[in-house]
Amino acid sequence: MAETMTGLKRSHRCTEVSGQMTGQTVTVMGWVQKRRNLGSLIFVDLRDRSGILQIVFDTDDIGAEGFEKAGRLRSEFVVAVVGKVTMREGAVNENLPTGDIELRATQLRILSEAQTPPFPIEENSQTKDELRLKYRYLDLRRPDLQRNLMMRSRVATMVRMFLAEEGFLEIETPILNKSTPEGARDYLVPSRVHPGKFYALPQSPQLFKQLLMCAGYDRYFQIAKCFRDEDLRADRQPEFTQIDMELSFVDVDDVIDVNERLLAKIFREIIGVEVPLPIPRMTWREAMDRFGSDKPDIRFGMELKDISKLVKSCGFGVFTGALEQGGSVRGINAKGQASMPRKKIDALVNYAKEFGAKGLAYLGIQEDGSYKSSFAKFMTEEELDAIVSAMDGQPGDLLFFAADKNKIVWDVLGNLRLEIARNLGLLQKDEFKFLWITEFPLLEWSEEQNRFVAMHHPFTMPMEEDLDKLDSDPGAVRAKAYDIVLNGTELGGGSVRIFQNEVQEKMFEVLGFSKEAAYEQFGFLLDAFRYGVPPHAGLAYGLDRLVMLMAQEDSIREVIAFPKVKDASCLMTNAPDTVEETQLEELSIAIRKENQGSAEI
Ligand code: AMO
Ligand code: AMP
Repeated sequence: MAETMTGLKRSHRCTEVSGQMTGQTVTVMGWVQKRRNLGSLIFVDLRDRSGILQIVFDTDDIGAEGFEKAGRLRSEFVVAVVGKVTMREGAVNENLPTGDIELRATQLRILSEAQTPPFPIEENSQTKDELRLKYRYLDLRRPDLQRNLMMRSRVATMVRMFLAEEGFLEIETPILNKSTPEGARDYLVPSRVHPGKFYALPQSPQLFKQLLMCAGYDRYFQIAKCFRDEDLRADRQPEFTQIDMELSFVDVDDVIDVNERLLAKIFREIIGVEVPLPIPRMTWREAMDRFGSDKPDIRFGMELKDISKLVKSCGFGVFTGALEQGGSVRGINAKGQASMPRKKIDALVNYAKEFGAKGLAYLGIQEDGSYKSSFAKFMTEEELDAIVSAMDGQPGDLLFFAADKNKIVWDVLGNLRLEIARNLGLLQKDEFKFLWITEFPLLEWSEEQNRFVAMHHPFTMPMEEDLDKLDSDPGAVRAKAYDIVLNGTELGGGSVRIFQNEVQEKMFEVLGFSKEAAYEQFGFLLDAFRYGVPPHAGLAYGLDRLVMLMAQEDSIREVIAFPKVKDASCLMTNAPDTVEETQLEELSIAIRKENQGSAEI
């Protein structure tokens, strides 16, 4: 039978005990990391969330009975130990903060016994993800996850303190909402009281925060749970957390200013990294032209170059064909990679095809200045020299080219650039390169829906100088929208909002909403704007992504206590799951059997 804590009180966490406390009696409580028997002595590493402290059991201090009890300890037993802090006589462990001391136990209580865990509870676990997530409560004991979640807590606390000092109010917004068709797919919640009707979980607090501005709250923030039913990736979960904010009577620069100071403070105080301010800004167009991405990783170069003009009338049909279709030919220079083996080049060509490339042309510049290329035979020596010179090619370099519609060329080369950088080990996780991307296109043409869709969301303000193009050339209108990018990850995004009903109605019209449909969906917002609305703007970060990058992790799963897997299920609780027939009846829901568990709603 487990013992109780009665009469004992924890005085310190494991690593709060230090050499300065030699001779003092302390009480620590935690989990047994490991036990070693050395004849007349038993050593136990005791672990809590702060770290590890070595305990020594010696019959002289704890008596025969206590010593026998210590001999029964196994990994993950939960114990309370009273003991005297002493300097270690044996080898000092440089790797532990408490490596020069030990606790000579005078009392031991076994508070809880433990079965042998299905995997070792240790740093840098090699355990398969599936097992880790099934036993997440054990995985969460690992020091690396504990450090990540402690960092996450510190970030959240600092955000609250900073924003409160800047005059922001923390206000909660509802989780049960009306479904709106823009954006990702909604998670729906059936209503019992209104059969056949559904709430939608928020994809973000967007409309509510704008209404709070309408109501005069001036500066709002919230650490908000958001839900999006979209395909999962390393930096996407179906439920995730935003640091969400909105400000009144501001423009782009005001939002950027407060956020730069927020980021600088968090990085300085939590991971000791100085973020040089101001953070550089780049327009969307420049980012696409130079990096082929709207979230460029600027930790390395290998920028795209447009060689369309040079190859306009060359003999290579792949290039000229793309240009005739209104596309472009662009390339990147993998410096010093001319001797890349054919197999690796082929792997890169296949990688490019994943992003829609029909092929990838390459040209290696040998040390003797001659070229080895997949398309040299279609071109004159002069044409090749001109391309090499435009690409800043030196002997030893390897050039890659893509020819297609701009969108595909950007995507292919933008991703190829990252893949080559990863293969060459150019990406340092302890280097933090921030960048603002501004002047996004307001709209994006959707082939699927055969209409324009909002690139950010339908409430984003067009740039004043482009307003007149909303009718004549909607695709060319730029938005007062901005993203904050860190090391190639979109950390956050926001915009200045439309606050004039005429512009908002025009926007809905361009998006293909009838006036009635717009009012049906967003009438409360449009109505609210009739009663006096301040100009306003805002931004939201993905908190999970922010902490992932700060903790130098590759997936947001490593900074979320209980994440979901790729198919959006939870391996520990088994959610989502079937429910009782009576629950469905109450909700007036019948399951369509032929769809194998997918609900008819
Ligand atoms: P947006 O849709 O760009 O903007 O989202 C803001 C930030 O939220 C994070 N994010 C995610 N993180 C994890 N998993 C996901 N599935 C996921 N989806 C988004 C990203 C992203 O940059 N209401 C607007 C903000 C505004 O305009 O103020 C919004 O939601 O880091
Ligand atoms: P082909 O004549 O089709 O064998 O193509 C010659 C070279 O051009 C090969 O290296 C192809 O991979 C490459 N290629 C084909 N299509 C494209 C494209 N759209 N952009 C760039 N290179 C391409």
